[in-house]
Order: sequence, then C-alpha cells, then structure tokens
Amino acid sequence: MPVDILVGTQWGDEGKGKLIDVLTRDVDMVVRFQGGNNAGHTVEIGENRYVLHLIPSGIFRKGVKCVIGNGVVADPVALQDEMLKVAACGFDVSELELSSRTHLIFEYHKRLDRVNERSAAVKIGTTGRGIGPAYTDKMRRVGIRAVDLLAPERLSEKFRAEAAYANKVLSACGAETVDVEAELAKVLAAAEYLAPHVGNSTYTVNEAVAAGKNILFEGAQGALLDIDHGTYPFVTSSNTVSGGACTGSGLPPQAVRSVWGVLKAYTTRVGEGPFPTELFDAAGNQLREVGREFGATTGRPRRCGWFDAVAARYSCMVDGIDRLAVTKLDVLDGFDKVAICTGYEIGGKVTDQFPASVEELASAKPVYEWHDGWKTDISGARSWDELPENARKYLTRAAELVRSKIAIVSVGPRRDQTFSVEK
Ligand code: GDP
Ligand code: IMO
Ligand code: MG
Repeated sequence: MPVDILVGTQWGDEGKGKLIDVLTRDVDMVVRFQGGNNAGHTVEIGENRYVLHLIPSGIFRKGVKCVIGNGVVADPVALQDEMLKVAACGFDVSELELSSRTHLIFEYHKRLDRVNERSAAVKIGTTGRGIGPAYTDKMRRVGIRAVDLLAPERLSEKFRAEAAYANKVLSACGAETVDVEAELAKVLAAAEYLAPHVGNSTYTVNEAVAAGKNILFEGAQGALLDIDHGTYPFVTSSNTVSGGACTGSGLPPQAVRSVWGVLKAYTTRVGEGPFPTELFDAAGNQLREVGREFGATTGRPRRCGWFDAVAARYSCMVDGIDRLAVTKLDVLDGFDKVAICTGYEIGGKVTDQFPASVEELASAKPVYEWHDGWKTDISGARSWDELPENARKYLTRAAELVRSKIAIVSVGPRRDQTFSVEK
C-alpha cells in the first residue's frame, strides 16, 4: 500500500510544491485534503515558474491523477480560472477531479473574511480568500458543496439563501454587500465548466488504494497553522497535520505507509502570531532577500528567523514524520554563523516543549546553539558528500533535535537541485 502523506512542518511555505513535483515522478495520484486557495505552491520546471493554489502539484506530470478532496474548501470561480491558466501553459487538466463533498467558497465568504479581519479583536492576517468563513459554514451545516454544482436550480436556491444571510451580516458590519444575481451568474458559469470534474472521490481514492497505486497526499500550510495543534488563534481553519489526510479524503488510516515532512532550513511565517526566533535585523533581511521570501499567494513579505527545533520537534511528533525533506539549505550559504533554537526560556525557566498558550509563546526567549557557517555556494551539490562539512553538521544536529531522519535535501528551487540522503 504505497500511500504517503507530505505535509509542511512549520508555518507553511516550506517548499511542499517543489517536493510534490519531484516525488510525483513515481506516483499515480496526488490528493489535496485541506485548505483552499490560501495555499501557494511553487513548482519550477526549467525556466518556468508556476504557482498553484488549488490544483495538486502533480498536475505537471503526465498521467498523474489529481484529486481535490472533501476536506478542501474550493472557490469554483478561482478553480476554473486556475485550470484555464494551467491548460494554457500546455498541461492536461482533463482528469482533474473535485470531490462532490468539497465545500465551496463564494464572494460573500471573501467579504466576510475581510470584515472579520477589520472588526475582530484579534487580527489574524489571513490571505483574504474566504477560508475561515467557508469552514464556518461547513461546521454550521449550511455550506454549499461541489455536488450542488451538478444541479443548477438547487445551487441557485441555496446560493440565494446563503448570500442573503451573508449580506445581512455584511450590512450590519457596515461593509459592502454582494450583488447576489451577478455573483450567482459567475458561479453558474463556473459550475458548468467544473461539472464534468466533480466525482465521488472517496471511491476514486479508495479504489486506487485497493489497486495498489502509488498515492501522495499533498498538505497545504503547515502543522503550526493547524486549527487544533497550531498557534491558535493565529492559524488557518483546517487540520493541516498528517491526520487531516484521512478525514479530508476518506482514506482509511491503515492505508498510510509513511509521512514526509517538509522542513525549511530556517523559519518563516506570514501573517500575525508569535514567532520566537523571528529576526528583525540584517540577518532576517538576508534570509528574506536570498530566500526570496515573499508570499506566493498574497505577495506579502514573509517574516524570517532562525531554525526553531522546539517548534519543529513538536510538529514532527504530531505529524508522525518518518522522513524529512530539508529545503532551502542554500539560503544559509552566506552566513558566518547560523543558529538553531533548542529551547524556550519562559518565565525564567527553560523548556523544550512547545506551549499551548500563544501568550506564553510570545514571551518565549529562544535559547540558541550557534554553528559555524559554510560560506560556500551549495546550489550545485548533488549528494550528501558534496555538502561542506559544516552544512552536514548543521543538518545532522537539526535532525537529531527534531528526532527524525533526513531523506532528501533541496539546495535550490529547480527539480534537479534535490538529492536523496542514504544514511
Ligand atoms: P509551499 O507553499 O510549501 O509549496 O512553498 P512556496 O512555494 O510558497 O515557497 C517556497 C519557495 O522556495 C518557492 O519560491 C520555491 O520555488 C522555493 N524553493 C523551494 N525549494 C528551494 C530550495 O531548496 N532552495 C531555494 N533557494 N528555493 C527553494
Ligand atoms: P502554503 O500551502 C503560509 C496563513 C495566513 C494567516 C493564517 C490564516 O502555501 O504553505 P487563512 O487565509 O488561511 O485564513 O489565513 O494562515 N496561511 C499561510 N501561510 N503558507 C500558506 O500556505 C498559508 N495559508 C494560510 O498568512 O496567517
Ligand atoms: Mg506557499
């Protein structure tokens, strides 16, 4: 049963898109199981750079079946747009499948997202894609699902009712309401385009498992943004951890062979929320500039800091990581010294546990261990032995601290800038 799950182990943007693209050389199916177009997964192929938001990153490999699972929230207009763009680049989207159980995002969700950000006591710094409000509707049991795209009359009826309700909330908050009929027209056009792609994907996934196919589950965001396990309330609204793959697709847990964790060699975060190792100095700027740390979805500059082994060990524990793919090691090339956070000092005591309270996390002073840099361009390295000794020491120590095994190292955004580690 070669079913593997790949998830981000930090606050997102670890390089999941690149890894999925690399690993799908040997895969039959890629399944997204949570999140929506808040994700931005970059894949570089030759001179071309593609950013995917909803379509699984296996789409660039011929013959790979791509599935958007029930745990995702999908904006039908955005999905249609993304499919047309990917098709215009010469890739085949005809086999893309959208689970009939997937909940849909509409314009009113996006407006509610913005209103929440403006009026809520706690500002999250969301992507503004309507993710939270769409998951809220799912939990309120008033969501509209992809299966409704197949019945335009039913879809229209539900849409009109929900949009009218959303408009009441929007106007009570002093925000601009949506033009219900104009929005419905866009949704109906998208429904017509997407209808042939809507499928009972729980069967598609389980039949592929039964047939012994190689299946890769593509996580979005990262464990520290998980609604239950992340830095609540500064999180997204879904289960981003590996366990989400089962509920978000109908995959039985016994089918899972292994879990890949993607780990950036330093730490980044977009939006608000505590970030103990964040750097506000020249080193932080160097990470952002060299690492091109600007959001793939919103273009926002990402907050940057040293590698936080306390947070990563916690994520690897919750995710049950079997193998790590460490990315962006090359971004550390220019530093004389590099730091790893091994503990937090909170209220005068040092701990290596990730706290549940964001107030405590915000007060945490990182305890650093300093390592000599390697001051060498490693973007051309293609094996463990080709890495400078100090880079190998840094990785070995990081793996030891997070109690996981490194199986892949990535030293650049391209497919070929990747190698397996056999240790
Ligand atoms: P994702 O959301 O986890 O898929 O990650 P993003 O695509 O949002 O951000 C990762 C960025 O780093 C993208 O621009 C990738 O092209 C780039 N990238 C991935 N791996 C590497 C690497 O090993 N080195 C460098 N320099 N860039 C990388
Ligand atoms: P990928 O898959 C990084 C962050 C937002 C915000 C919080 C909630 O590319 O790694 P939301 O719009 O989801 O309600 O925003 O989560 N966020 C991400 N940060 N990478 C992502 O996805 C993210 N998706 C959401 O910045 O702080
Ligand atoms: Mg991203």
